[in-house]
Amino acid sequence: MHPMLTIAIRAARQAGNFIAKIYEKPDSIEIMAEGQNDFVTNIDKKAEQIIIEVIQKSYPTHTIITEESGQILGEKNDIQWVIDPLDGTTNFTKHLPHFAVSIAVRINGRTEIGAIYNPMLNELFTAVRGQGAQLNGYRLRIKNNNELEGAIIATRFPFKAKQHSAAYINIVAKLFKKCADFRRTGSAVLDLAYVAADRVDGFFEIGLKPWYFMAGELLVREAGGIVTDFVGGHNYLTSGNLLAGSPRIVKKMVLEMQTELSDLLKC
Ligand code: IPD
Ligand code: CA
Repeated sequence: MHPMLTIAIRAARQAGNFIAKIYEKPDSIEIMAEGQNDFVTNIDKKAEQIIIEVIQKSYPTHTIITEESGQILGEKNDIQWVIDPLDGTTNFTKHLPHFAVSIAVRINGRTEIGAIYNPMLNELFTAVRGQGAQLNGYRLRIKNNNELEGAIIATRFPFKAKQHSAAYINIVAKLFKKCADFRRTGSAVLDLAYVAADRVDGFFEIGLKPWYFMAGELLVREAGGIVTDFVGGHNYLTSGNLLAGSPRIVKKMVLEMQTELSDLLKC
């Protein structure tokens, strides 16, 4: 196994198991507002510390970029660990058991390793560039579905950027004419893992930050899917406007969405 994947898995499992233990003791969870409709807890922060400690023990010179601590610049800035210690914080605070730890390793700007761990189901999604994606050791392959008819699409309402509400509702209305249904699960990280696992057929979200999609993007690609922005390009790395699925589903979603995109979403 790739040595960095071994460390990513160790860190994800340790943090995930800590989160799962606290899930049984809701009294020890302290919720703080981070922004509009956006929350963080003492558990997100503690889980992040667990992950950082595991990584730094093996790779003290690598850069670490996390949702809660920002950037910890290492001597080797060409190797970056990109982390969301707890994705699905709102679910976690509501005692809704759908959340995960996400860890990606980027080398010279390319994601090489991805690990996503859902501690409540003991599901570990992993990917290594060029070596495929796996769920608990079993190979993942996306079926190249070619029709939106029958498709289940995961998404989220733009609750942190409500200026996009009208355009978003129009996109959903347009897609809803063709697809079977939507899922809004509360964890973008798991939405992408579920695209890779063929549990949903497509995914789109406005304004995702890198720690929400780096590991999941590699999983989707290694399972045979593609990831684009809303016009079929690669600008999602900066805009965070991201679409994922099998190549055919993504192509059809891009086509459907075009007429509903505001100028801000055309990237
Ligand atoms: C959130 C989840 C959610 C997504 C939000 C994120 P957090 O992450 O991924 O699915 O829609 O954009 O903020 O705050 O629970 O790590
Ligand atoms: Ca988080």
